[in-house]
Amino acid sequence: MIICIGAGPGDIGYLTQRGAQLISDADVVAGFDAVINVVESLIPESAETVLMNYRDQVAQLEIVAAAHHAGKRCVVVFMGDIHFSGFQYLERVERACGHPVETLPGISSAQILASRAKVCFDETTFITFHRRGDLSPFKRHLVHVLQDQRNAIVIPCPWDAARSFMPRHIAAYLLEQGIAPEQPTEVWENLTRAEAEWHGTLAECAEQEFSDMSIMLIRTLHPLASQIEPQ
Ligand SMILES: C[S@@+](CC[C@H](N)C(=O)[O-])C[C@H]1O[C@@H](n2cnc3c(N)ncnc32)[C@H](O)[C@@H]1O
Repeated sequence: MIICIGAGPGDIGYLTQRGAQLISDADVVAGFDAVINVVESLIPESAETVLMNYRDQVAQLEIVAAAHHAGKRCVVVFMGDIHFSGFQYLERVERACGHPVETLPGISSAQILASRAKVCFDETTFITFHRRGDLSPFKRHLVHVLQDQRNAIVIPCPWDAARSFMPRHIAAYLLEQGIAPEQPTEVWENLTRAEAEWHGTLAECAEQEFSDMSIMLIRTLHPLASQIEPQ
């Protein structure tokens, strides 16, 4: 048995009871170091922990897949929710196992941001740049989202200089594409832990540095809800 579970945004209080139960019953618990840290207190002493990082994840997932095929109860923990910026990792788990695997949702940093900033997902589009491959279709999509008067919740890309697309790069790109410099912008860091929030305009955001653990909200100047006639 193998299941991928969302560990929530960082504070263990946001892990679902079902997720906690699956970890407590596991023979093998696998994940990136930062995510294993969140759930460490629930991992039974008898369980094997398989830690991984960006470089060794494919090899480490082979170890997990072998344990799963040997009949062990395996849990792979994901940051936040699997269905928000987690599918490339899920595909790696499924490739290692050779078949689709079950998933258990968690609470995403995007949902915590929506709650803190009081935005409604109905009027908001989620976009991640924290992904491998060509980012240009996702960049164009973000421009269209803002031109269509929707809010955008955006996960930046914190990788090496060549690929880094952090809030200041995102803001600079949007300004180049003609998005209004006064568009209200927020960046939230380390949600549910040592939270920090920054509020300003898109133009101001282009001058700011943020940590890797940050998520961005660009608010529309003309909320759709205010354009809809009351019933
Ligand atoms: C690969 S994405 C995974 C997102 C995750 N699946 C989720 O639902 O939140 C990792 C990025 O999400 C953002 N992130 C995750 N947890 C966060 C938190 N607690 N506060 C702020 N940003 C967070 C950071 O930008 C981080 O680099």
